[in-house]
Amino acid sequence: MSELCNEKLVYGNLVNGRWMESASGNVITVTSPVDGSFIGEIQAVSKEEVDEVIRYSKEGLSSWAGVPIFEKARILYKAAEILEERAEEIADILMMEIAKDRKSSVSEVKRTADFLRFTADAGKSLEGIAVSGENFPGGSRNKISYVRRVPLGTVLAISPFNYPINLSASKIGPALMGGNTVILKPATQGAISALHLVKALQDAGLPEGVLQTVTGKGSEIGDYIVTHENINFINFTGSTEVGRHLSKISCMTPLLLELGGKDAALVLEDADLKYAASNIVEGAFSYSGQRCTAVKRIITTDKIADQLVDMLKTGIEKLAVGDPRDNVVVTPLIDQKAADFAEFLIQDAIAKGAELIVGNKREGNLVYPTLLDKVTVDMEIAWKEPFSPILPIIRVKDMDEAVEIANRSEYGLQTSVFTKDINKAFRIAEKLEVGTVQINNKTERGPDHFPFLGVKASGMGTQGVKYSIEAMTRPKAITINLTE
Ligand code: NAP
Ligand code: G3H
Repeated sequence: MSELCNEKLVYGNLVNGRWMESASGNVITVTSPVDGSFIGEIQAVSKEEVDEVIRYSKEGLSSWAGVPIFEKARILYKAAEILEERAEEIADILMMEIAKDRKSSVSEVKRTADFLRFTADAGKSLEGIAVSGENFPGGSRNKISYVRRVPLGTVLAISPFNYPINLSASKIGPALMGGNTVILKPATQGAISALHLVKALQDAGLPEGVLQTVTGKGSEIGDYIVTHENINFINFTGSTEVGRHLSKISCMTPLLLELGGKDAALVLEDADLKYAASNIVEGAFSYSGQRCTAVKRIITTDKIADQLVDMLKTGIEKLAVGDPRDNVVVTPLIDQKAADFAEFLIQDAIAKGAELIVGNKREGNLVYPTLLDKVTVDMEIAWKEPFSPILPIIRVKDMDEAVEIANRSEYGLQTSVFTKDINKAFRIAEKLEVGTVQINNKTERGPDHFPFLGVKASGMGTQGVKYSIEAMTRPKAITINLTE
């Protein structure tokens, strides 16, 4: 196979610069969550083929590490340009493969191009330091440590279904700028979009073996790659369940985990309710709530809850629901299992006394945006990550209780605080056990050069352009000892 895919839309796996079919003949058919249509076939690689990819990765390491930073950056700039040229074409595939509305699909491709450019710039700004021995008691000016960052080796990038292009690039770009070789294991649903990203990087001039792919089901091939002795770093984004598993089996291989979330919006009594409501509706329901950073619960007091609920209801009723090609906001979920889980959460809450304000309607895997009021802590929706368009409201007596409930979650990705009082906002922010607090805005990842991290069950390590480069490099110290 000389190209990414053949005329029957059978996609290859990138091995040392060539798009290869698996010798086993095993393929996985990818169909659309929108209408079940055929998107393509991807290779289910064997363990022997994983070994081969890892071997090429090792072989490519020293030559790639030796490529000047300026040249590495040039390739990323070129890849960004190619992605922009192909944005519409790739967005069409993305839209059907993961049921993301067209506008968001185009935006994901363009955001990725911006990310690659920014990463190239950040890589060019990397500088070493010289540390003098005299600063430490008993030290001497004759000892100087020259410290610069060096690659870790082969980085295994594992990306989730919901941002197959952006969350693959957010690992690949910084890893490459840090001088590593990369093997991408994309989510099976989303793999075809991710392979188009890889093709753009290949076409931009990446040398053979520097970036390769391993497609196939995580449940079948995942453990084998993750525990391979020649993987030097694992950069994973996905569910907490799989993240925990990888953390257990990876032994001494360092890893970075971006996992699930249960982001809360704390709405204070002095907040601009109209603004908070429309901002929260966007944060909770875009891409049907299938974002790690989606607003997944509102915590507020009785005094303003009724008014807030009315505003949220109005906003939700205006949301366009349906086929992503029609540029709606709420689209079908990634599969039936995800919709079954959403339905379970809604029914459980209603059975335990939650008040259904709007929603609770399902057509196949299309779940309508649902607002549940008076949710209590005994309900599953109070704690579980729905990854679907469900927004629960938990009423509390005051903000101390709001903070206590926000922190009681096993997750710790982000929290929003809506208030006009910046002092109150800061005091609350200090108490929240999360990676990021958003004051007067919905929870969200970007801009992509900000530090992005989860604590507790939401992850380990920090992403964001320069933070990602740092995570995938290590300091190397060379100490010069001057003689008199
Ligand atoms: P997932 O089921 O955990 O899958 C994530 C990736 O892991 C996929 O590529 C999957 O491959 C692979 N995988 C599964 N089992 C594996 C194993 N044993 N070894 C190695 N790889 C394995 O997650 P998802 O459903 O794609 O994504 C949704 C979840 O990701 C949500 O919980 C969401 O909150 C989280 N997420 C977090 C962030 C963040 O930045 N914190 C960002 C986006 C998403 P297959 O597809 O082949 O199973
Ligand atoms: O799903 C997790 C993504 O990192 C969220 O990114 O907040 O820009 O949608 P986003």
